Amino acid sequence: MARIGQTEAKQRIDFLKQELERHNRNYYVLNAPTISDFEFDLLMAELQELERRFPQFATEDSPTRHVGSDLAAGKGSEFAQVAHRWPMLSLGNTYAREELYDFDQRIRKAVSAPYSFSCELKFDGTAICLTYRDGRLLRALTRGDGTKGDDVTRNVVNIPAIPRLLHGTDIPAEFEIRGEIYMPYEAFDRLNAERAAAELEPFANPRNAASGSLKLQDPEEMRTRGLDCVLYHVLGEDLPFKTHLEALEAASRWGLPVSAYSRRAESIDEAVAYIDAWDTRRKTLPFATDGIVIKVNELDLQRQLGFTAKSPRWATAWKFKPEQALTPLLSVDYQVGRTGAVTPVANLEPVQLSGTVVKRASLHNKDQMDLLDIHIGDYVYVEKGGEIIPKITGVELSKRPAGAPRPDFPVRCPDCGTPLVRDEDEARHYCPNRESCPVQIKGRFVHFAGRKAMDILAGDATIEALYNKGYIHTLPDLYALTRDQLISLDGWQEKSADNFLASLEASRNVPFERVLYALGIRHIGEQTAKMLARHFGSIDALAAASRDELLQIEDIGDTVADSILAYFASEPGRETVRRLREAGLQMAVDAGARQQLSDTLAGKTVVISGNFSISREAMKALVEAHGGKNTGSVSGSTSYLLAGEKAGPEKLRKAEKLGIPVLSETQFNQLIGKE
Ligand code: IVH
Repeated sequence: MARIGQTEAKQRIDFLKQELERHNRNYYVLNAPTISDFEFDLLMAELQELERRFPQFATEDSPTRHVGSDLAAGKGSEFAQVAHRWPMLSLGNTYAREELYDFDQRIRKAVSAPYSFSCELKFDGTAICLTYRDGRLLRALTRGDGTKGDDVTRNVVNIPAIPRLLHGTDIPAEFEIRGEIYMPYEAFDRLNAERAAAELEPFANPRNAASGSLKLQDPEEMRTRGLDCVLYHVLGEDLPFKTHLEALEAASRWGLPVSAYSRRAESIDEAVAYIDAWDTRRKTLPFATDGIVIKVNELDLQRQLGFTAKSPRWATAWKFKPEQALTPLLSVDYQVGRTGAVTPVANLEPVQLSGTVVKRASLHNKDQMDLLDIHIGDYVYVEKGGEIIPKITGVELSKRPAGAPRPDFPVRCPDCGTPLVRDEDEARHYCPNRESCPVQIKGRFVHFAGRKAMDILAGDATIEALYNKGYIHTLPDLYALTRDQLISLDGWQEKSADNFLASLEASRNVPFERVLYALGIRHIGEQTAKMLARHFGSIDALAAASRDELLQIEDIGDTVADSILAYFASEPGRETVRRLREAGLQMAVDAGARQQLSDTLAGKTVVISGNFSISREAMKALVEAHGGKNTGSVSGSTSYLLAGEKAGPEKLRKAEKLGIPVLSETQFNQLIGKE
């Protein structure tokens, strides 16, 4: 690593800590990683090295010292959190062979007795800790933050591989067994096909699918997900085993799912041979693995070696490098999205990669293209990271054809010819012609009509046709379309026109949060729209919010705040809202009884007490909108006490006495499906 000064080191450490925490959250909480494990591990290794060289900047809260947490922080959870009897740690990992020999050397120095290794597949799923008492499954906890986990027992009992009852005569009265819940490729492909059919975002990989499924609130839905389980670590007090592999053998006899691929190795060389064998063989497995775990097999030596803050000293993980393919770059397309952002997309000579044929790959932005120094005709390395679309990670310079030209990043919008501007914060190029750039206009309509937005029966082709006829230019124009205009479209008949008009009519009842999302304000995704709707309650309150008010909201930063302010400051933005309101769209959360959001609370009586992030009135409206009834005092017939900050102590006491569930605002939001 290059020489760097203290100030620079401190800055880099702070940056890496922040980045790693963000990626931990994307990975463990949101199940939507945006970088590959390899890239994550590189950042982690850099932070470790900097903290080693500048110990004055190493803090207790560093991601190098704690495991990423899967607890839904701050969101509240339907699952009870339970403390782990023994912390659930992570594993040190390496991509470099010498480090395996270093690992062996460290053990040799620390213990005097001979030792062997257990070599195991590293299953790419989500960690689980099962407790069995008297041969019965007592509890299942996720890793959580390592010290406490979510109690997912009610979901885990729906995984066929996990027995509720064990059989055998030598089962300890109580023990824990830890392992991985994973989704085999077949189940993963099926699930993603179903999601695609339902226009839901597909899971990026089987690991995310497994961990997302394990946290489902509906055990029945969870049952259909085809999860599997493998267990690899037995823990307990006074267990009779001498070695780790012996303990696993016993577990297997009791009926627990244990890997059939683990092997004992007498030396690190044998362990390396196991790694080499699986490097290719793993591709034939019906489930995902991301490495090999090597553990000291003798349990007394494991105890001697002990743990660091984050991982055992008696085990390490060899990680497989992500699979790459090398293929020629044929050309680069520049796509303009509905927000005007221009994304370079590489067209590749089709190539096989991890089971699929890759033809296109993302190049992200101009900086990335410059960094790679990419030329047309270059052989490029393609990888699948955390994202679905593969990306180009490097260029094979030795194969560059003579005279290969550099692609010209456009200076004008490929669609409307307006000079592009660069957004410094995001290193992206934008077409600033929001009002008249045809791709942006059409994109805005497609977004507006989408399932998660206004759910209007109009896909790309319909929007294209309506736009080309000159019938639609700004969003409210949709609500002025006539039956005759629709019938005049190619291939349209009365029936299709009526269906379209019916869906337009139904969209007037779409809840405000979806209307807000549908407007297509830059940086306002589905989740942000929900949060803003809940916080402000109406479009007028949001439009009147100051920068400071916006910034006070959790998860709203400068970029989002500026985008909201710009939208409501612009004439076209204000005009769109005015005309959509006129067309009868919902512009507030509590827009009256007309707005029935669900019947989740049908037949339930809810008492509300304390302060919430929205007004008490808005909270009441929300209960009613989900079919519930509000009452003032807690009694035997109360279904829930919805308790905000400073909730009445008398009410809380009474609810506890009567055994009435007390919900926090976040728990309530989850109950009504407002994440
Ligand atoms: S042993 C204290 N063995 O990989 C040691 N872990 O990156 C506990 N994993 O947290 C871990 N396969 O979730 C172990 N055969 C295996 C594994 C394995 C997958 C996971 C586990 C761990 C993570 C570390």
